[in-house]
This record gives sequence, C-alpha cells and structure tokens, in this order.
Amino acid sequence: GKGAAMVTAVAYRLTEQARQIQQTLAEFRLNKSQLLEVKKRMRVEIERGLKKDSHKEATVKMLPTFVRRTPDGTENGDFLALDLGGTNFRVLLVKIRSGKRRSVEMHNKIYAIPIEVMQGTGEELFDHIVHCISDFLDYMGMKSARLPLGFTFSFPCHQTSLDAGILVNWTKGFKATDCEGEDVVELLREAIKRKEEFELDVVAIVNDTVGTMMTCAYEEPTCEVGLIAGTGSNACYMEEMRNIEIVPGTEGRMCVNMEWGAFGDNGCLDDIRTKYDQAVDENSLNEGKQRYEKMCSGMYLGEIVRQILIDLTKRGFLFRGQISETLKTRGIFETKFLSQIESDRLALLQVRAILQQLGLDSTCDDSIIVKEVCGTVSRRAAQICGAGMAAVVDKIRENRGLDHLDVTVGVDGTLYKLHPHFSRIFLQTVKELAPKCDVNFLLSEDGSGKGAALITAVGCRQRELDAQ
Ligand code: GLC
Repeated sequence: GKGAAMVTAVAYRLTEQARQIQQTLAEFRLNKSQLLEVKKRMRVEIERGLKKDSHKEATVKMLPTFVRRTPDGTENGDFLALDLGGTNFRVLLVKIRSGKRRSVEMHNKIYAIPIEVMQGTGEELFDHIVHCISDFLDYMGMKSARLPLGFTFSFPCHQTSLDAGILVNWTKGFKATDCEGEDVVELLREAIKRKEEFELDVVAIVNDTVGTMMTCAYEEPTCEVGLIAGTGSNACYMEEMRNIEIVPGTEGRMCVNMEWGAFGDNGCLDDIRTKYDQAVDENSLNEGKQRYEKMCSGMYLGEIVRQILIDLTKRGFLFRGQISETLKTRGIFETKFLSQIESDRLALLQVRAILQQLGLDSTCDDSIIVKEVCGTVSRRAAQICGAGMAAVVDKIRENRGLDHLDVTVGVDGTLYKLHPHFSRIFLQTVKELAPKCDVNFLLSEDGSGKGAALITAVGCRQRELDAQ
C-alpha cells in the first residue's frame, strides 16, 4: 500500500544521497597509476628547478641553501635561534657541546604573532620580532652577550650565501608588506639597530626543512632529507653540486630547499585538482600559488573539508540543508580538530561533541559523513605527499648510480605528528612508489631551533677558517 511506497521512496532517497556523496568523494580517491604520475611530474619539475635555463620559470624552485654538509658532532658554542613560519614563533637559546659527551641544551619561549602583524608592514613585523628577542634576552639575563644567531625563516628565500636570503614570496598566513624581494637578514639587522638595546651576529638564515634534516643528521648520519608536513608542506635534500647549475662549482653536495609547495602552479596538477581545491585557492591569501601545498598541508586540509561540507549542505545532504555562520568561517577546522575527528578511539557521539564545540549542530548521520569527508581528504594529502617524497628518494638513488638506496628522512610538522593516519598512509605510499629505496623516517625533536643552531655553529667555524 501507500505506507510501503513511502518507505521505498525514503530508502531510495537515502541510497541516492549516499551515491551522490560517494561520487563527490571519488574525485579525491587516487589510484596507483595516478600517484605514479604525480611522482613522475614532481621529478620533471625538480629537473626544471635545477637547470640554469629553466630555473627562472620553474615552479619548484630548488633553492640552494649553502649548507654543504650535515653535522659531525664537532659543533660547539652558545647560539640564539629564531623560528618563524610554523605554528608558533619562538626564540631559543641553544647550547651545543662537542666531544665525547656531546649534548644540546635548549631554552625557549613562545610568542604570539597577531594577525595584524603577520599581515601589516614589514617594519612592524621585524620590530615585533626584535621586541620578542629583547624580552627573551631579559628573561635569560643575556642582553650583553652578542651571541651568534641562526634565523629559521620558513619561506622561500633566494640565498647567495649562508647569511643572505631574499624573500621570493610569502606563503601560508603571512603577507607583510615591503619584504618580498628584500634580504630578510638585512631586515632583521636593521630592526635590531633601530631598537638600540642589544647586538647580535646574524650568521645563518635557515629553512625549517633544512633545520629538521640537520637535527636528525646530528643523531643519524644517514639522514640527508628533511620533510615538513605541518602548517605548510616542503622538503629539502642533499643534491650533487654538479646538478645545481645556478651555483658555481661541481664538487661535493649542497642541501637544496625544494619549495615543493609550489608544485602544480604551472597547471601540471590540474587533472587531479577538484573544484573544492579551486575554491580553497580562490579563498586564500595567495591565489594561484602553492597549489600542491594547498592539497596536502595542515593550513588547508580543513579548508578543503569545509568547502566539501558547504557543498554537501547546499545539496541538502548535511546539517538539514542549513549553512551556519560557522561553516562560512575560514580556518575553523584546524589540524587538531581534524585529528580528533578522525581518531578511531573516538565514538561518533564524541565526533558530534567536537562539531558542537565548533558550533555545528549535527545528527548522527551528519557526523558519519563528516568523518568520511575528513578521512578522504587527509588520505589524498598523505598519498600525494608520499608521491613527492618517492620522487626525491629515487632522484638521490639515481644521482649515486645505485640499484638500491638506504636513506633517512628527518620529519617534523603538526600534521605528521598529530594526525592519527597521515604518517602511516604517507609511509605506505613512499614504499609503494619507490620500491628500490629503503626509507627510514626519523621524527625530529624541535628541528627548527636546534637545526638553526647547528648550522650557525658550522657557519661560525667556516668564518674563522676563511679569516685565517
Ligand atoms: C611553506 C614555505 C616553506 C616551508 C614550508 C613548511 O611551504 O614556503 O619554506 O618550508 O611552508 O613550513
């Protein structure tokens, strides 16, 4: 009768809805041949970045870092380090002791950088940084020491030496004026002069990937790659000098900061980018830039999820078809929330509680869908990040003419460390896509700070040698 027909209609609507949701998510599910294609394209862009003729137009910049070797345990001294560009801004004092009982002791303080400062003028940003250093030196009672400083500055910089770095462009949440095209070390030195309170010797500018690699290499000499899977996404590795055509010399190796976040900016990933990825890009501070990073780093994963949820809601599949103010808010799904939602230890009721906390009123069905959306987006992120890494380790293997390579990758970043599934899927993908490499992953403890100090130590030593 009529009742049965209605039940059938409801059931049909539900299965049709489920089908449409699956169809939406299917675009995010990449198969092995698609991932191999991503790996192959990354390799092409790596070559373009390294070669003199194509370097200028290349999207993956392959920036020289002037770090020529990993640490060997002879590093020694007291150093100041700054860490700008990750989740927190920090100032650190790092005491490195060489010899039989080598050790690294660190003291650090975290400082907030208000959005107005991140997106204000360059002078305000650097004055703020120097203000924080001043507070830290007071706190440590070290205002008169004139310490050597290593500046971990996690943005693309064109380096011509260890202590000169011209900011190519801001990435992630930064947009301070008058900095792009300027030497960031000079901007820091000028701000220190303006303050007239203390002196510092800025010895090195360091990308966070490089700091991470150096920190891990201090414990494990086979570490020759650095990876950040956090707010942003990037990698560095030891490349043969003969392949780095924009730096003179062919002997030995130099660490290259890949800036792989910009992979895809020439359109080479367009076939796997979805309309949600495009929406995230259009909503960002740097439209058209960092397209790969926008598919696989912590700052944007939640944004992709939010775009999908908005669309599913509009189509009436979620939240009773009501788009709340919360859902319209940029940045609501931080990495820590995604990590909680995807945790298998959490019951659905707890997922609903988290959504509630964010201001989203959900039914049980809603929470199932949200969890699946999050899982699909983060799986793709881990996979394409793994495809990038597979290209890197295979490149190193080929550089050395080996059939088989054993290598260690130093890793840092909130996404890698906090997310319940990202690291596992990432590792699995690297293994599958680079079967000729045995890749060992080492988590770095405080890579940015410690690494900056280690590089500064090497820089100081080199300066003494050069002076002789
Ligand atoms: C962004 C920056 C890059 C950094 C990465 C991780 O991609 O451009 O320099 O290494 O984020 O913090």
